[in-house]
Amino acid sequence: MTLEDLTPTTAFRIADLAARQDEVVRIAEKRAVDRQHAKGKLTARERIGLLLDPGSFVELDQFARHRCAEFGMDANRPWGDGVVTGHGTVDGRQVCVFSQDFSVFGGSMGEVSGEKVLKVMDLAMTIGCPVVGINDSGGARIQEGVVSLAYYAELGRRNAHASGVVPQISMIMGPCAGGAVYAPAITDFTVMVDRTSHMFVTGPDVVHAVTGERVTAQELGGAAVQSEVAGNAHHRAADEEDAIEWVQTLLGYLPSNNLDPAPEYADDTSPVVTPADLELDRLVPDSPHRTYDMTELIARLVDDGEFTEVHSAFAPNMFCAFGRVQGRSVGVVANQPRHQAGVIDIDASEKAARFVRFCDAFGIPLLTLADVPGYLPGTAQERGGIIRRGAKLIYAYAEATVPKVTVVVRKAYGGGYAVMGSKHLGADVTMAWPTAEIAVMGAEGAVRVLYRRELAELPPEDREAARRRLTEEYRDRHTGPYQAAERGYVDQVVTPSQTRLQVARALRTLRTKRQTLPAKKHGNIPL
Ligand code: HXC
Repeated sequence: MTLEDLTPTTAFRIADLAARQDEVVRIAEKRAVDRQHAKGKLTARERIGLLLDPGSFVELDQFARHRCAEFGMDANRPWGDGVVTGHGTVDGRQVCVFSQDFSVFGGSMGEVSGEKVLKVMDLAMTIGCPVVGINDSGGARIQEGVVSLAYYAELGRRNAHASGVVPQISMIMGPCAGGAVYAPAITDFTVMVDRTSHMFVTGPDVVHAVTGERVTAQELGGAAVQSEVAGNAHHRAADEEDAIEWVQTLLGYLPSNNLDPAPEYADDTSPVVTPADLELDRLVPDSPHRTYDMTELIARLVDDGEFTEVHSAFAPNMFCAFGRVQGRSVGVVANQPRHQAGVIDIDASEKAARFVRFCDAFGIPLLTLADVPGYLPGTAQERGGIIRRGAKLIYAYAEATVPKVTVVVRKAYGGGYAVMGSKHLGADVTMAWPTAEIAVMGAEGAVRVLYRRELAELPPEDREAARRRLTEEYRDRHTGPYQAAERGYVDQVVTPSQTRLQVARALRTLRTKRQTLPAKKHGNIPL
């Protein structure tokens, strides 16, 4: 059918609509391209175009414009009001998206842009799909005063209500300042682009005015700081394309909502021990003081050796990643002996706790790999609140009702044993390698405490030999996996090379797991 086949009025209206749509996008993109590309940034629509499957984007509220008169703003009213919203697909799966357009009022949030963002979030909740928010904004629109503040608070309310219902992902691709940072902070995952993005509650000018400190925006809240030090960013992307690819990969592991299963892929893993499995028998060094890379183990447990790490630069002593076992998503939590011997500190506890809670909220089973000397001692940690903040990980594991499988690889000392997905916190299947050392503390520490007096009474020249002998005896007698296995705290002692098959079997067995916790309004996790 052509326009000529229609009634004149309909034909006129359709042609008019096409002209209007063309005008909206053309004018918006012309201005945006000029302003954004000069800064090495893509436009709001270009970003959506890269994120979504080609041709899948359905834009909403294209013709929305701000109500300028009331706010005394420029009568030249740009279409869209500084944000592009809509929905489309990523790898064929539905997502909702909003993308702030910095070229219009600095992407700031006002009444109309706020309405648009809330509307698309409400849609995501109604249909049960993830929301990706692309942030590039000067924050609350200054001219609109309390109205813009109201919309930020409304957004925070939506974020909180959507938390645990649909996955929420924030991409920071420009400024994100003031109270605007709290919406991404509530979302599940935040990606920042190196050099062109920053997040802070108060910018460099205010910092200087209040404290006298001179600091650049990047030093204050650039991607490096937020991903390595503050932990607000789960991934530091080299550029915008990298950020988008990371989000696309991440979405592939996640269910669309808390009621749907995560996407399932064909299982083409080997049903028998492979050469790669056999390599695990040589992974753990003989000396307890020598280290190894936990990712070597993870790569041999997950399908095709593929996993996507979250928070990789933050608290690297704790490792959190999504992978697949026999085609199904799992969340992997592991100590990383290569960093601080895999000790649990405040950051590691909070990182893993949030990851565990995400997996639990979205029905993703947890695979925990323990090699942990315990919690980090010291005044910095104690004063920083390791008691309250370290408790988060215990709380998160204990509350998680998804299938939980744990493998103790080497050290599982003290609180570290208990917290890293132990039977006592509700793990369904616990395994240990023969190299596991499950004990209250390491052999050296135990001997120092237990034989302090005996060693002190020996002539100095005999002490070192006695200490070594006692340490070896203690290690042989107390630190293997068998005391725990005798009591059923460890279900299976498995050889390293059997681990992949045993983990897969455990997760398969647990597919039908159903567990409920006592009914309550909600718990009170130590925040
Ligand atoms: C209205 C804004 C704006 C804002 C920027 N613009 N921020 N318009 N409200 N909040 C406009 C500018 O006037 C300018 O318009 C255009 O966007 C580009 O801004 P520039 O300053 O030229 O860009 P740049 O040099 O890149 O600097 C970007 C910036 C800076 C760092 C974001 O604009 C800035 O500091 N803005 C204010 C940030 C802020 O303090 N926001 C309030 C946060 S409090 P023209 O017409 O010249 O192109 C908050 C509360 C939330 O958000 C409450 C939650 C509960």
